[in-house]
Amino acid sequence: MSKNQKLNAWVEEVRAMCQPDSVVWCDGTTAEYNEMMRLLEEAGLATKLNDAKRPNSYLFRSDPSDVARVEDRTYIASRRKEDAGPTNNWIDPDELKKTMRGFYTGCMKGRTMYVIPFSMGPIGSPIAKIGIEITDSPYVVANMHIMTRVGTRVMEVLGSDGEFIPCLHSVGKPLAAGEKDNGKWPCAPIENKYIAHFPEENLIWSYGSGYGGNALLGKKCLALRIASAMGRKEGWMAEHMLILRLISPEGKRYHIAAAFPSACGKTNLAMVQPPLKGWKAECLGDDIAWMKIKDDGRLYAINPEAGFFGVAPGTSYSSNPMAMDTIRANTIFTNCVLTDDKDIWWEGIDGDCQHGIDWKGREWTPKKGGEVGAHGNARFTAPARQCPVICSDWENPAGVPIDIFIFGGRRTRVMPLVHQAMNWDHGVFMGATAASEPTAAALDVKQQLRRDPMAMLPFCGYHIGDYWQHWFEMGDRLGDKAPKVFYVNWFRKNDQGKWLWPGFGDNSRVLKWMCQRLDGKVGANETPIGFMPKAEDLDLTGLDVPKEDLAELLRVDVAAFKGELADLDAYLAKVGDRLPARLAKQVADYKKRLGA
Ligand code: OXD
Ligand code: MN
Repeated sequence: MSKNQKLNAWVEEVRAMCQPDSVVWCDGTTAEYNEMMRLLEEAGLATKLNDAKRPNSYLFRSDPSDVARVEDRTYIASRRKEDAGPTNNWIDPDELKKTMRGFYTGCMKGRTMYVIPFSMGPIGSPIAKIGIEITDSPYVVANMHIMTRVGTRVMEVLGSDGEFIPCLHSVGKPLAAGEKDNGKWPCAPIENKYIAHFPEENLIWSYGSGYGGNALLGKKCLALRIASAMGRKEGWMAEHMLILRLISPEGKRYHIAAAFPSACGKTNLAMVQPPLKGWKAECLGDDIAWMKIKDDGRLYAINPEAGFFGVAPGTSYSSNPMAMDTIRANTIFTNCVLTDDKDIWWEGIDGDCQHGIDWKGREWTPKKGGEVGAHGNARFTAPARQCPVICSDWENPAGVPIDIFIFGGRRTRVMPLVHQAMNWDHGVFMGATAASEPTAAALDVKQQLRRDPMAMLPFCGYHIGDYWQHWFEMGDRLGDKAPKVFYVNWFRKNDQGKWLWPGFGDNSRVLKWMCQRLDGKVGANETPIGFMPKAEDLDLTGLDVPKEDLAELLRVDVAAFKGELADLDAYLAKVGDRLPARLAKQVADYKKRLGA
């Protein structure tokens, strides 16, 4: 029980509906985390890893039907369908609640119901929001301990009349008398999964999935979908962006926020270590930025999360050494390979694995053309404070002033390495029309190329046209203090399928060029798509990129861009009459520049 009557009433209402065996109020302590792991080991769901290699860390294997976010089953249930817009699934809120109440009734039988008070953002900071997640999953409790700030201090700040965002979650697998999970990851069949948001009530209901963003409701559901809708109403921004600080040899700080679709290297860039003499980088966050305009007229960002829920495959000491050091201990791994010496392994990690247990729990040896050992969306959950390059200001409630916004995606063709927006409105156009090739982060994305506006396609909690209008209005308020906007593509290949750009740490060479643009230290070539570096201005010291590859990376293939105009028009047509006039003007100007 808490001092907050509204919270007590909600908990009681959920208890009566879900009918758990017992209710536990979480306190966020280490003892509680250890107890969750004990229960999960007992249920055959957690495997303790070798303490000598990976202290205090565990491996989980989820059900093969429950390995990623389920965008087809994710809903924005606003009162009016048109307020959810063309990019969201919609069901009338009363109807959806009726359906979901049906599923929730008795869904926690045989289980414990946990009440998790959590703060997104430093506890008590004016920018933070309090959520209460009710869940029947100890795996969720343990992950929330890492990803958010959980516990009694949150309850103290909430007090007797504080506001909170109710987040209800159930795995959707009640247990009959005497039944146990017995090593089987509990979840509901895909057609019964619902990830529902009620933006007018600031309410989240999730049913049937135990995985990632479907279940850790502070992350995508609260900090992006609900927060984006709140941000619009209240005049701030909740974005799918990493935050990093770059420090020049002279000690000048630049703060960068970058939006890439899921599994396109946000965690790698967030922890980038520049190979450039004298340049340093520090990480503030790898996934979400909440940003407000302060009295000095600048835009300040905080990371509302407390941990990293990173994509494991591909992470190694060569791609992201700082992430590898972050996950050396106290980490939860999901859907990775278990090695014979009880450590974890995945495709792309340093070194081979000759034999292990794959993410489906089967004996596994690597075979050419055979099945992968770790799922493509296997994840690690690790505390941000364990990152060796975490910025000393990462928990500063005041946030950091953003100088640069970056958009991007995964494009093996057409899109050059980097270009800069001509002004704010053009930057909004670049973000709004961003596109990427699909990744394993969502279960149900099949297109070749999907437009992913500001990397928010699955995360914008309201009409995308209104969202773009909000961006324009934020730009008006920021005026000449608005961050400068850039677009990058680290993923270009040549016709033979060879990567043209080394990526990873070397991406900081492109960041350096951006900082020099801000300071007016370098010029640029003006092209139909924006300002681009002169080849000699990119610092490639110590790097061996063939001249012709660099030329290709910096080439604007006007014919190829023209070839994408039909797709662009079809995409924007779906936005209908809420397409901001300023965006339509950007499209017209763009076509004119391309000579279309
Ligand atoms: C994530 C995602 O988990 O974007 O961060 O899918
Ligand atoms: Mn993300």
